[in-house]
Amino acid sequence: MTGTKTFLTIPLLFVSLFAAIAQPSGQQWDSIRKVTTADHQHMMTLLGISSLRPGVDGMNSDAPNAANYDEAKANPYPLLPDPLRFRNGKRVKSAKAWWKKRRSEIVEEFEREVYGRVPEGIPPVDWVVVSETHDTTGSFPVMTRTLEGRVRDSSVPGVTVDMQLTLTVPANAVRPVPVIMELGFVWPAGMRQQPPAGGQPSWQEQVLERGWAFAVMLPYSVQADHGAGLRQGIIGLMNRGGPRKPDDWGALRAWAWGASRALDYFETDPLTDASRVGIEGLSRFGKAALVAMAFDTRFAIGLISSSGAGGAKLYRRNAGEIVENLAADGEYHWMAGNFLKYAGPLTWDDLPVDSHELIALCAPRPVFISSGDKGDAWVDARGMFMAAVAAGPVYRLLGAEGLETDEYPALGEGLTGGEVAFRQHTGGHTSGPNWPVFLEYAAGYFDK
Ligand code: GCU
Repeated sequence: MTGTKTFLTIPLLFVSLFAAIAQPSGQQWDSIRKVTTADHQHMMTLLGISSLRPGVDGMNSDAPNAANYDEAKANPYPLLPDPLRFRNGKRVKSAKAWWKKRRSEIVEEFEREVYGRVPEGIPPVDWVVVSETHDTTGSFPVMTRTLEGRVRDSSVPGVTVDMQLTLTVPANAVRPVPVIMELGFVWPAGMRQQPPAGGQPSWQEQVLERGWAFAVMLPYSVQADHGAGLRQGIIGLMNRGGPRKPDDWGALRAWAWGASRALDYFETDPLTDASRVGIEGLSRFGKAALVAMAFDTRFAIGLISSSGAGGAKLYRRNAGEIVENLAADGEYHWMAGNFLKYAGPLTWDDLPVDSHELIALCAPRPVFISSGDKGDAWVDARGMFMAAVAAGPVYRLLGAEGLETDEYPALGEGLTGGEVAFRQHTGGHTSGPNWPVFLEYAAGYFDK
């Protein structure tokens, strides 16, 4: 059993952030942990699994199960599934065959085994404008609209969803404008996001400077970030307050679903150009941003920051965080229940897909895979780079360009010549230093 122990290995920073969002007390946290452990156990029982292999410890390099950072041991399964080979073994030879059949095979496998399926019959989201203010962001005059996306089902009492979205448009914009949407954390009162180093403008100012709008969608308003929350939020609403089935969606898919509903809203707003919407997320929200890009082809571009395991990093890599961490009770709620099998009776190599194919689902749209250096080893930058490289054949088949090199770039060197981009920056676990590079890259598509 990896249960409670792994639950406690969620970095403390995030535990304290969660606590501040929903304001649970210490006692409420005990109950969240208990319900989570029971739900995790319930899923194992459904799957007929009696035990899971334990995850690695990313906090203590002396621990017997310390995370591996030795490249010589990092590739136990070097052979990746071929995105350009049909399930029946035949080769995919044309863009037409990709769109007609191969893409949906990969989608099906990610839905069934990795992220789960979005259920049928979700009630429509009712977008309500809560407020509109005219103000400034830095030195830019802006209009900010605060929106609430309400989802209700009167036959499921006690479970409601109020998605939180803000949209900030430059006051003097030539409309309709592109939008860069962040999947945002809620910062606890008194705690602010670190201002960018060296007096650099914030990412929001950098976006406004280009005459574009920025938006922030709060994933936690769609789905809570723990197993105990799975019977609430949009996942709980669709299960009428009951538990998940093994192929039901997890939080990453639910957060991505929320991002798509925000995009629906941009389609209706004359201020915004829904054909030029970029999505950005960091860490767990980097994973969600990539899932959103992959499953919803309307997203035009993505900045996928430090997404690591469950995001752009190859599942077949033994470096930093691994499959077993994702399957433990601190993180399994991000994934489909079926994913647990790959940390139990099955191995990583049994996964029918790997993350290079998630990146390939974004093709031919541009996607920027981003990572930090020191302090960000847990996300396995090299494993994300390898996935980005291996998505290349699909991009090329569709007439676009992949990374076009398998040589790992120097720190700070941006590979931004094709539709798959990669850059590892100094400065750790953040999107910060890659914002200017990403926005320049996006301008190549948005300002044409
Ligand atoms: C943990 C988790 C990562 C995740 C990160 C975050 O470190 O293991 O998978 O990306 O939290 O969201 O900050």
